[in-house]
Amino acid sequence: MGFQLRELYSRERLSREVQRLGGEISGDFAGKELLVLVILKGAFVFAADLVRCISVPMEIEFIEISSYCGTDSSGRATVIKDVAIPIAGKNVLIVEDIVDEGRCLSSLLDILRPRGPATLKVCAMVDNRRRRTIPLEPDYVGIRCSCGFLVGYGLDLDQKYRELPALYELIPCDESVC
Ligand code: IMP
Ligand code: MG
Repeated sequence: MGFQLRELYSRERLSREVQRLGGEISGDFAGKELLVLVILKGAFVFAADLVRCISVPMEIEFIEISSYCGTDSSGRATVIKDVAIPIAGKNVLIVEDIVDEGRCLSSLLDILRPRGPATLKVCAMVDNRRRRTIPLEPDYVGIRCSCGFLVGYGLDLDQKYRELPALYELIPCDESVC
């Protein structure tokens, strides 16, 4: 079985949603400072656009967690690269590419909460409701959908397609046809 890529959300649409999100976040955090915490690798494209639409002062940090977000015996996802600074007392805004089942984000929140941030919010470019198994609502959402597997705008399939400027859905098809 092969697959085709079908454009679902254009770069113009993504750009409009990012500007809207930037406005909402700037309003909500007016007079405060943010620690923007980007989840590697998928969120790097979205985050690069988003931070330039936010008008409050910020620090930007990165964290990488295992792409397999099942939990180990201690009940935690594996942190591959941790945040370089303490987050206690800070207004942390997690920037995630996509919330799907909800496991990655839920594990990450469990890891970060005990570190004592002043506030801990989540901004996801895509909230794909179709396979959600953990009840979890991101605070800020670019696109809410119920769709199949997406690539582009930072999202990958086996590390490929992150560079595509729009969001595409993978459509399975017969190899003799596609
Ligand atoms: P969750 O635990 O299922 O919510 O997994 C979220 C993580 O899995 C995201 O941060 C992505 O890295 C990856 N992921 C989930 N759905 C997709 C998708 O449709 N395309 C690409 N990556 C995805
Ligand atoms: Mg990810």
